[in-house]
Amino acid sequence: MASTQTRRHARLLTPAEVPEAAKMLRDGALVAFPTETVYGLGADATDGRAVARVFAAKGRPAFNPLIVHVAGADQVAALAVMDATARDLAARFWPGPLTLVLPLREGHGLSPLVTAGLDTVAIRVPAASLARDLLQRVGRPVAAPSANPSGRVSATRAAHVMDGLGDRVDAVLDGGPCGVGLESTILRTAPLALLRAGGLAVEEIEAALGRSLPRDITPGKVQAPGQLSSHYAPARPLRMGVRSRDRQAVLIGFGPVSGDLSLSESGDVIEAAARLFDLLHLADSLAAEKGADRIDVAPVPETGLGRAINDRLRRAAAPRDMPQP
Ligand code: TXA
Ligand code: MG
Repeated sequence: MASTQTRRHARLLTPAEVPEAAKMLRDGALVAFPTETVYGLGADATDGRAVARVFAAKGRPAFNPLIVHVAGADQVAALAVMDATARDLAARFWPGPLTLVLPLREGHGLSPLVTAGLDTVAIRVPAASLARDLLQRVGRPVAAPSANPSGRVSATRAAHVMDGLGDRVDAVLDGGPCGVGLESTILRTAPLALLRAGGLAVEEIEAALGRSLPRDITPGKVQAPGQLSSHYAPARPLRMGVRSRDRQAVLIGFGPVSGDLSLSESGDVIEAAARLFDLLHLADSLAAEKGADRIDVAPVPETGLGRAINDRLRRAAAPRDMPQP
């Protein structure tokens, strides 16, 4: 019923059209594609604007970090640091339904929105041949959350993606139903912990490691968007909703409020999301240069991605000696 009312803009691509899907991703489009676990909503992970559109399409109320997909384990070295345990797990289970959360490597080139400002990145090498072919052709890391609107169940068929997101993505690559049908198992390796149970059985991982896996699946703890790395949490106090300049502060503008820097001069929340983490970082260095002791941010509307932006800003503005939610 709902599906017949959905406006459909997305192109449905056949497996023979993988080269077109890859080209679209390289050009900054949103392309949903099948992995063996569930369909992912893909975007070039190095393109901040494309990544921002992923959050807008899903309607996520906050910037949760996304999983980065690569064609092979050899492509991980440029993005993240793998210790011996990570290398063992990768050798044993990649390609497959396992995601590893690893420390980011300097010069990784990913949009900071992908990791939501954390200093770790979640990476997986999917096994589905269509996904591997696609990733190989894109030649860049592809960020992809499950291809469902926020709060709805994951999509395991192209038709599910069309129903849920058909009017918000550019294309859906149809590879038939997903074999596993359950999201990947997520592991952090340093320190070792299970973050999400999923398509790879915990018993299999424990058998491979020869020891039991500590669980760290307290929901608020893993996904808390308050876990900004110090790199992206401004060192100075932050004030929101500021419309005019003050010599004691660096002003981050938006739309009509022009500051020392601007999230988006045209008042585009997608552009603002793509620039947010970079600008918070930049504002700190600028404040150090100017001798300013505060960062002010212009009002950002509470619509679309503006909600997630404000969520982040509120956390950054919270007093430092209080525990972050
Ligand atoms: O099977 C899957 O994993 C699918 C396919 C498309 O790959 N993807 C998927 O993505 O389920 P998503 O966005 O629905 O779930 C990703 C999870 C989130 O719960 C997020 O918090 C966690 O991964 N995550 C991502 N980066 C993280 C990080 N650096 N630290 C901890 N958790 C992270
Ligand atoms: Mg999901």
